[in-house]
Amino acid sequence: MTAQKTILRALAGETLPTPPIWMMRQAGRYLPEYRATRAQAGDFLSLCYNPELAAEVTLQPIRRYGFDASILFADILLVPQALGADLWFVTGEGPRLSTITTQEEFDKLLPPDAIHDHLSPVYKTVEILSRELPAETTLIGFAGAPWTVATYMIAGRGTPDQGPAHALKAENRAVFDALMDRITEATIHYMSAQIDAGAEVVKIFDSWAGSLTGDDFTDYSIKPMARITQALKEKHPGVPVIAFPRGAGKRYIGAHAAIGADCIAVDDGVDAAWVAENVQSGGCVQGNLKSSHMVTGGEALVSETRRIVDALGSGPHIFNLGHGITPDADPENVQLMIDTVRNG
Ligand code: CP3
Repeated sequence: MTAQKTILRALAGETLPTPPIWMMRQAGRYLPEYRATRAQAGDFLSLCYNPELAAEVTLQPIRRYGFDASILFADILLVPQALGADLWFVTGEGPRLSTITTQEEFDKLLPPDAIHDHLSPVYKTVEILSRELPAETTLIGFAGAPWTVATYMIAGRGTPDQGPAHALKAENRAVFDALMDRITEATIHYMSAQIDAGAEVVKIFDSWAGSLTGDDFTDYSIKPMARITQALKEKHPGVPVIAFPRGAGKRYIGAHAAIGADCIAVDDGVDAAWVAENVQSGGCVQGNLKSSHMVTGGEALVSETRRIVDALGSGPHIFNLGHGITPDADPENVQLMIDTVRNG
């Protein structure tokens, strides 16, 4: 039986005449309706833990643009919080967490299956969305990959080069490995519960994979994502997995097989024609358009969008940006991108 939803067809390996489309961070601050709902919730984390309002912001870009997929509104840092880390957001700066750099700090974390109650509002959001989304829209659940989540748990914040995580890996491999393992197990539990609640696809975000070099890339980006994918496939055969080892460069080659993923999301640091030749043979690909086009628009947006659609048009392809849309994006440019993808 052929799946009807276009995203599921592309993920199953079908080449479609027009690629289905969605956008990373499609529910976000560039939309006035998102800002209004976030204000109603009070702050970002209260929005994440309010199932009705989190479902509302997830639906906003679907109503406005009719994207083919909807991504659950939540954040990758809810998992560390559920494991017992303190988490807060500093306006204009980003996330802050209590840090894990010693065995004592690690020992205070909760076991992986203890995260369930804390995260139950997220599962509730998924349930609401699976009822309320249009029949043709695919619901994507997600989590951060262990390395990316670990970089935040170790540094206590976002860092330009993930220096503190690299330092812990070099200086205290036992604690680093134990933390990676804890996050991996918790993530399997979390994503599996999202699927039980109604997520039809899941995506693993390894936003900082690019800073891993040599064997570390395989050991700490690819292998943990492969372990998560394999565990999910055992429990939920047929649920497609998208993996995003951002910044992988040439190491995108072979990533489908190495991870066991149905789709590899690519950033904007690789060329679409190169991706078609070297990555798409492994399965569906997604991404690549520079997010800055959503700010600048115009002819460059149209020609770049066409170039990517053409380059990836002979294989399974989901149109997306190379990274999340930024708050300074113009909502009209998003419409222009969609019109260009759908109407040529
Ligand atoms: O894509 C979506 O629309 C789904 C929701 C989603 C969010 N964050 C909402 C969010 C997803 C998939 C994420 C993933 C995420 N979160 C990642 C991995 C992907 C990536 O972007 O690299 C990372 C590293 C985080 C951690 C995080 N959350 C940071 C660093 C920040 C602050 C940066 C910023 O833009 O301010 C967040 C906050 C965040 N997560 C926002 C949104 C919509 C902005 C919060 C706000 O409304 O103020």
